[in-house]
Amino acid sequence: MNDETADSQDQIDMHTPSAARMYDYLLGGHYNYPSDRSACDQLLTTAPSTRELAVNNRAFLVRVVRHIASHYGIRQFIDHGSGLPTQSNVHQVAQSVDPSCRVVYVDNDPMVLGYGRAFLEENQNVLILPSDMRKTKKIAADAAQIIDFSQPVAALFVSVLHCVPDDSLGNPRRMIEDTVSLLAPGSVVVICQLVSEEARIRDEVTELMREQTGDRWGRVRTRAEVNDFFTVPRLRIEEEFGLCDVTDWRPDTDLVRRQETQEWIEYGGLATVG
Ligand SMILES: C[S@@+](CC[C@H](N)C(=O)[O-])C[C@H]1O[C@@H](n2cnc3c(N)ncnc32)[C@H](O)[C@@H]1O
Repeated sequence: MNDETADSQDQIDMHTPSAARMYDYLLGGHYNYPSDRSACDQLLTTAPSTRELAVNNRAFLVRVVRHIASHYGIRQFIDHGSGLPTQSNVHQVAQSVDPSCRVVYVDNDPMVLGYGRAFLEENQNVLILPSDMRKTKKIAADAAQIIDFSQPVAALFVSVLHCVPDDSLGNPRRMIEDTVSLLAPGSVVVICQLVSEEARIRDEVTELMREQTGDRWGRVRTRAEVNDFFTVPRLRIEEEFGLCDVTDWRPDTDLVRRQETQEWIEYGGLATVG
């Protein structure tokens, strides 16, 4: 992040690729510019499985939200780093289980915020917060407009922690710890991020993404580093699937295509809050 105090960038910079718009392009969306598409082409040269990885990550997000609403009976969601609107957004999936589900979307990308507001603000159970997701206390204060923190909440960090560097403002583990400290027992936390066990991939992709996005990126980590995020006090990993490539987490027929190569994967899972 090159501006650690602002809630979000004010203006869309169409010449500098953004993680949100690159992800949209990889998913087949239309909210992206030539700069985003060209950055994706470079990324695909280094990590050719990235398109399938993105599609499978989004399918995981849909499965996990449906599971949280139907299995845990949770009706409140905070989606950190929500991304551009696409098919099956979190509120649509949750509200298909129960229309009373309330969803707070948090993002700091101006394009996400613009389209999010246009599409979602007519839904009274949805709130869009323009914020850096590391500002946990401010997010909780603002989210309290529609979220009751005395009741269980699902805190989602899906495919976002690689955007967060290990800096003093709030490394991912501290951010998760701060968030969990605000949640009632019975809440759940979903965490996944891009990992690779190949140092070359971690280094090349991290360097490429930092350079392309003007340093608005964190880094590719290892599975062991993601495992460490789940050692935050009060978190207990849901055992059935544990921590895995999210493609393998409660798989169903939504799966489009497996990654042909595994140079990096989206790795994580779900934990309950005791
Ligand atoms: C790869 S997209 C993931 C979108 C969605 N969570 C999903 O999995 O489909 C990452 C999103 O995180 C957002 N993001 C990155 N860093 C952020 C930060 N520090 N605060 C808030 N949002 C952030 C980006 O703008 C982008 O929309």
